[in-house]
Amino acid sequence: MTDRIRTRRIRFAGLCGLLLLFLAPLRADKKEPDLDVPFEPTPPQVVEEMLKLAAISSSDYVFDLGCGDGRILIAAAKQYGARGFGVDLDPQRIEECKENAEAAGVADKLTFVQGDIFDQDLRPATALTMYLLDEINLKLRPKCFRELQPGVRIVSHAFNMADWKADKEVNIPKARNDVIYLWIIPAPVGGIWEWSEKTASGAIPMRLTLTQEFQTVQGALTAGQGKPNRVRDISLTGRDIAFSAQFPEGKRLTRVAFKGRVDGDTIKGTRQAGKDAPQEWTAQRKPADLTGAWRIQTQNSPEPLDGVLHIERKNGQLAAKYAKGTETMPTELWHFYVWGTSVYFEVPAPDGDEDERGVIFTGVLDDTNAGGRLRKEGWSDQASWTAARGK
Ligand SMILES: C[S@@+](CC[C@H](N)C(=O)[O-])C[C@H]1O[C@@H](n2cnc3c(N)ncnc32)[C@H](O)[C@@H]1O
Repeated sequence: MTDRIRTRRIRFAGLCGLLLLFLAPLRADKKEPDLDVPFEPTPPQVVEEMLKLAAISSSDYVFDLGCGDGRILIAAAKQYGARGFGVDLDPQRIEECKENAEAAGVADKLTFVQGDIFDQDLRPATALTMYLLDEINLKLRPKCFRELQPGVRIVSHAFNMADWKADKEVNIPKARNDVIYLWIIPAPVGGIWEWSEKTASGAIPMRLTLTQEFQTVQGALTAGQGKPNRVRDISLTGRDIAFSAQFPEGKRLTRVAFKGRVDGDTIKGTRQAGKDAPQEWTAQRKPADLTGAWRIQTQNSPEPLDGVLHIERKNGQLAAKYAKGTETMPTELWHFYVWGTSVYFEVPAPDGDEDERGVIFTGVLDDTNAGGRLRKEGWSDQASWTAARGK
């Protein structure tokens, strides 16, 4: 982020703070809604670019979180025929949305409700738009990963998602901070994938080990009893994965390009060796169960963080708690993301300051090789962790 953007951001956040402070006494009298972000509409040209960046089409159901006067959804319905759902805490905004949608002739495609963005069920959305604040986006992030399907696009005017890097960032002079961002919910691909390759000397079992943090994936491929080879050019966009690997063919190495679509524990697609015609390719992931109590030991950590990570299944999803040292009451982990066997969890700062980031653990949980890295602003990258599942 450039200093200019950072300064503007701080100014905007300051301005929001002042505005909210100024509105506070009015709120007490008039029962004004307790907004996380004041109303400021996105300029029309920026709305256009946001919809383009999200590749909105008539098959989309777009959710605008904090929908203001409804302009983003109205444009999505008018220009692309998309359906939309807007939520805003301010009832006055919702009235405006309904009037504006009526006037634009798209009221039948749009639903507007008064409510809190944190209480909305996001599961039906195929695309999400927002113009909030960095810290509100970060608070929404776990909800996005819990509720949105792989492939759902999220577009944000001006504000980012902390260490979840955007898939695309577009500079637009009319936008606040000159920028809009796009993220695509990635399919969970971490784990061990297996298939068999037919060769002149018979079928060889292949094993691809992938680790994942958000949409960033690394991998190694082992052919038969050979050594693992780093996989190259890995890209993961929603459910679409592509990578290439070098295979020995006689005395030469041939580059094989793989492309596929992830559906649960199956990837189906094609493999193409050199300039040969593509052939069908299917890989299966070895099943993994992360639930249980994992005893965590840290190395080179500036803070004492050894403890127990409790992972359980709640309403069909994995949830986690962490008990440091001899603590008997584990803390619920808000930022806990699982991509197959790859995990990301944040142990909150000890003083309980909600706005301060805690320590982030990233890595892999499986019974043979559990562990990874620790990170926190100002720490060296030497800090790491290992884990073993308790009985
Ligand atoms: C910066 S405006 C963006 C409006 C619109 N999305 C746009 O881009 O033109 C933010 C909106 O979020 C709404 N808002 C703030 N906190 C909210 C919350 N917790 N739940 C729902 N809406 C909220 C405000 O009322 C305001 O209309």
